[in-house]
Amino acid sequence: MKSADIRQKFLSFFEAKGHTVVASASLVPGNDPTLLFTNSGMVPFKDVFLGREQRPYKRATSSQRSVRAGGKHNDLENVGYTARHHTFFEMLGNFSFGDYFKRDAIHYAWELLTTTYGLPKEKLWVTVYQEDDEAYAIWRDEIGVPAERIVRIGDNKGARYASDNFWQMADTGPCGPCSEIFYDHGPDVWGGPPGSPEEDGDRYIEIWNLVFMQFDRDAQGNLNPLPRPCVDTGMGLERIAAVLQGVHSNYEIDLFQRLIAAAAREVTVPGGGAPDIHDNSLKVIADHIRACSFLIVDGVIPGNEGRGYVLRRIVRRALRHGYKLGQTKPFFHRLVPDLVAEMGEAYPELAKAQDRVAQVLRQEEERFGETLEHGMRILEAALATLPAEGEGRQLDGETAFTLYDTYGFPLDLTADICRERGVQVDMAAFDAAMERQRTQARAAGKFKMAAGLAYEGEKTVFHGYELLNREARVLALYAGGTQVDRLEPGQEDAVVVLDHTPFYAESGGQHGDAGLIKTTGGTVFAVTDTQKIVADVFGHHGQVQEGVLRVGDTVSAEVDAVRRARTVRNHSATHLMHKALRQVLGEHVQQKGSLVDADKTRFDFAHDAPMSADEIARVEDIVNAEVLANQPVQARLMPYDDAVQGGAMALFGEKYGDEVRVLDIGFSRELCGGTHVQRTGDIGLFKIVSEGGVAAGVRRVEAITGDNALAWVRRTASTLQSAASALKTQPAELLGRIQQVQSEVKALEKDLAQARDKLAASAGSDLAGQAVDVAGVKVLATRIDGVDGKALRGLIDQLKDKLGSAIVLLGTAEGGKVSLAAGVTKDLIGKVKAGELVNVAAQQVGGKGGGRPDMAMAGGTDAAALPQAIQAAQDWVRTQLGAA
Ligand code: ALA
Repeated sequence: MKSADIRQKFLSFFEAKGHTVVASASLVPGNDPTLLFTNSGMVPFKDVFLGREQRPYKRATSSQRSVRAGGKHNDLENVGYTARHHTFFEMLGNFSFGDYFKRDAIHYAWELLTTTYGLPKEKLWVTVYQEDDEAYAIWRDEIGVPAERIVRIGDNKGARYASDNFWQMADTGPCGPCSEIFYDHGPDVWGGPPGSPEEDGDRYIEIWNLVFMQFDRDAQGNLNPLPRPCVDTGMGLERIAAVLQGVHSNYEIDLFQRLIAAAAREVTVPGGGAPDIHDNSLKVIADHIRACSFLIVDGVIPGNEGRGYVLRRIVRRALRHGYKLGQTKPFFHRLVPDLVAEMGEAYPELAKAQDRVAQVLRQEEERFGETLEHGMRILEAALATLPAEGEGRQLDGETAFTLYDTYGFPLDLTADICRERGVQVDMAAFDAAMERQRTQARAAGKFKMAAGLAYEGEKTVFHGYELLNREARVLALYAGGTQVDRLEPGQEDAVVVLDHTPFYAESGGQHGDAGLIKTTGGTVFAVTDTQKIVADVFGHHGQVQEGVLRVGDTVSAEVDAVRRARTVRNHSATHLMHKALRQVLGEHVQQKGSLVDADKTRFDFAHDAPMSADEIARVEDIVNAEVLANQPVQARLMPYDDAVQGGAMALFGEKYGDEVRVLDIGFSRELCGGTHVQRTGDIGLFKIVSEGGVAAGVRRVEAITGDNALAWVRRTASTLQSAASALKTQPAELLGRIQQVQSEVKALEKDLAQARDKLAASAGSDLAGQAVDVAGVKVLATRIDGVDGKALRGLIDQLKDKLGSAIVLLGTAEGGKVSLAAGVTKDLIGKVKAGELVNVAAQQVGGKGGGRPDMAMAGGTDAAALPQAIQAAQDWVRTQLGAA
């Protein structure tokens, strides 16, 4: 049955059952910010499920184009590595909007599969939601699926998303328990039924999901009942086509075979030879041309954000796989006509947009082509420096970030290449590099926003070293970047310029102040940040909360004193820490960047190695000693040259005027324009809470002070207390207790192993007596429980010793896992080989094994078949010995 027929038969079947056939909607969901792409057939009907939209029908059926390449459902990284993942696929579905529910949904599905599609009933398995007795009963009693092929699967209650047999469209929206139908591809394929340890194998494949929509999950995670229970089903066209066409992989179905052939044609370069038609890269390209073309059909264009960026990532991944096969010229867009030939009839909108799709793809290919080669060289060079194996096989985050930032390699593209070489990407370092760039961009953005304001007039006089409150006059007001006369509540990007201010504007790493600007008439402007517009003009950013603020108003400017106090503690501590770091680590320590806000001080400095726990403790001790000395802090203005001659440290990356502010805090003397404590004792407790690397040769420490440090100490103590209580001891005794528990566990493990050995030994003597005579040879094939695979091996040796001349096969099952062992004494290996014997049994339990002619082991997954396995082994031995 061709894919096109399968699609058509599905729709006709449900049409005959009173369903309206609805055309596929766009991949870009209309008006739905919760969803990146249409990811299943139900998406266009979301509002109908929720009762917000009425349609003239209560039953619908569709073949919906879907993309799972971002958001809750994302398969991008698996494409090319598995037999059945796609970025783009077609979902066949039938829907009931408050009409039929579980019973009919199940009956329809069964009828279609076993009658219209003619699938053998015994090949089908089903799962139901753990607590769904109703669905279970329908499957067993009405449909007649034997109980052993119905599996209950529960949701993963603790997880953010319920994982199994509870389907939801996105973080929020319609959801409900579901029942899935699986197809058994047969024992030639490895894997176990749903819910078994081997369920990830490819033998049992989910083909259809029947969702019983009952709830609307809100942003708080609550499940609110829908107005009426509904049905939403989804069957991947590609999967059912694989089943009906008797192939195992989706990529072997008719539709994909032709796309793969087209991809092979386009990546073949003159003189280069055609690629292997089974190459995974061809599958990737065939998959991606579908996703990319349909996304463009639906109006997405490659870009740097949101949907556009997902599209760009998919295109670039396809190009890279072409590159891998040797194609360095644009080729991807030339697959569009092949796709139209395959799918244009079912999707006329694709045929219509054909030229535009090819053009957009071509442009994107040309754009990336320029940097792909260059980036690949950088990546290859970095990969070449990695050790052949072991922990060091990790791509550093800086290279991944450079590839991303400079060469347009999306992170998952880099990860894809690395995965082929068994290399992981250092994600933490990549994230750190990304965060650093964001912070810089934010700072630059702010600077631009404030600097972009046109201002002419008086300067702001800063009083924040001495005062936290000051009367002032409004000199200028801005909203959304333009100068205005008045500001009202709700206006965004509002900025106030005052003639005098106690608010500190961000500079030298210290964040700008927050607080309030008030008039006596009751107007309140909440300041969230302070930034300089030009050198001596301060912009107070925020929003009017009450009343109206006008140019010329007299106001009271009040800094948020608590936030400021926290910030100054952190800032003063930074100076002390800088000096202490130089004392402990050496004079090479140089500030490379700093950020001081109310929560912490973050300090980057030049140093080659991670700090040891001892070094960290010494820095903390030095700083805390300065705090306890409670020295007054002194600031003086003086000419720059005098300051530097007087031993003040000038900081990296700071610009200084002729006259500078020299700050003495305890033993430190630095140039600094920031606000500080009055005495070192004001800092309170100083504690370093993290240390790490940010770039080659640059370390970063974060430290906290005052009430933040107290809160940290409390949290830590309380964690320690809870851990101690859990082990029924005191914090001071905790370590000893943990060691004690560890050695108890070890002793128990040893006892258990001994007990098992003993058990096995006594079982051994019992078993020897069970050997039977087959054509003059002692044969023992039996099951023994309560032993593990290792003990089984020991038993075989024992039995061989005891029996002198014998053929032995033992099997055991524990937790759904089967272990088998066979032994043949040397004199008999001419007649029977242990390796062959164990495999005869293993075949029965879905496993395989191997070993020497006198000793072999095997594993299996089907514990229920163990008795047959033993019987089969016995029969086989009889035949081998000529007794059958
Ligand atoms: N909406 C359900 C799914 O995608 C049917 O699996």
